[in-house]
Amino acid sequence: MSDIRRMAVVGAGQMGGGIALVAAQAGIAVTVQDAFPGAADKCRALHRKLMDRAVEKGKATRPDADAALARIGFTQSIDDLAGADWVVEAIVEDASIKKDLFRKLGAILPDQRVALATNTSSISITEIAAALPKDHQHRVVGMHFFNPVPVMALVEVIRGLQTSDDVVARTVALAERLGKTPLKANDRPGFVSNRVLMPMINEAFYAWMHGVAEPEAIDGIMKLGCNFPMGPLRLADFIGLDTCVHIMNVLADGLNDDRYRACPLLRQLVTAGRLGDKTGRGVYEYPQK
Ligand code: 3HC
Repeated sequence: MSDIRRMAVVGAGQMGGGIALVAAQAGIAVTVQDAFPGAADKCRALHRKLMDRAVEKGKATRPDADAALARIGFTQSIDDLAGADWVVEAIVEDASIKKDLFRKLGAILPDQRVALATNTSSISITEIAAALPKDHQHRVVGMHFFNPVPVMALVEVIRGLQTSDDVVARTVALAERLGKTPLKANDRPGFVSNRVLMPMINEAFYAWMHGVAEPEAIDGIMKLGCNFPMGPLRLADFIGLDTCVHIMNVLADGLNDDRYRACPLLRQLVTAGRLGDKTGRGVYEYPQK
């Protein structure tokens, strides 16, 4: 059983916000840190909307929803995370920015029992841990959530070379407490999820580029024929085309194999600024966003 009482979440974006909400619903007090001035208001508004919807649908009572929302605090200062007994980092996918952050977190939270989890989708856990002093490296673990966090059942638990058995066991317990199913993977490029998912998405771009079918048909065939909730091109827009390219680069470089190179059409859309839902246009158009 997880004994976490106060969690720190670094990053108030879609992933960090989702992680904070599921933790608060599980009775954990959460402090969300994001240096960007508007981030807290946006995240708070989304939390309120999701909890209102849960109440309307009878999935939560009003008092439970209000109590969960009241458990979430926001700050712009990383120093305010002192005293937390678990950290989940969900910031930008940039190895050097993450390593800097983990060095700071190690200093602010020197207690060896405080695990430092990263929600990275592709950066090596071993590499992030190596940024910390030797006697703190065992605290770093991968805790890979999926978007939308409140809906998706999985937490991929990734053990770096230095991660201790105790931290892995407590990560599994925490994921279960959050109502998720934890499944373990080793620290190899893309772990399991993106090692398997991203080449499929990349192949869908090749199918489009080679004129096998139009995007709607590619997605329709995969939705109806394979029972996917979203076709691979729609899912790429949902994830972000820039993120897809980034993960393919990690696979190609980490596995030293050009068959993982991002499809030229995918790269071209990114160059054109068509990043998917978040920019209002990717493979498809999203005028409302
Ligand atoms: N936050 C919270 N809840 C959400 C949500 C969000 N952003 N979007 C949808 N939901 C909830 C809805 O409230 C609804 O809940 P209900 O069942 O209680 O009514 C439920 O999800 C279904 O939503 P909708 O009816 O509006 O829409 P759909 O049935 O089309 O489902 C979807 C939307 C859940 C996003 C579904 O299309 C889906 O599962 N898509 C695939 C998502 C996926 O594969 N995610 C993984 C991406 S990869 C990743 O994250 C890893 C990274 O490393 C790349």
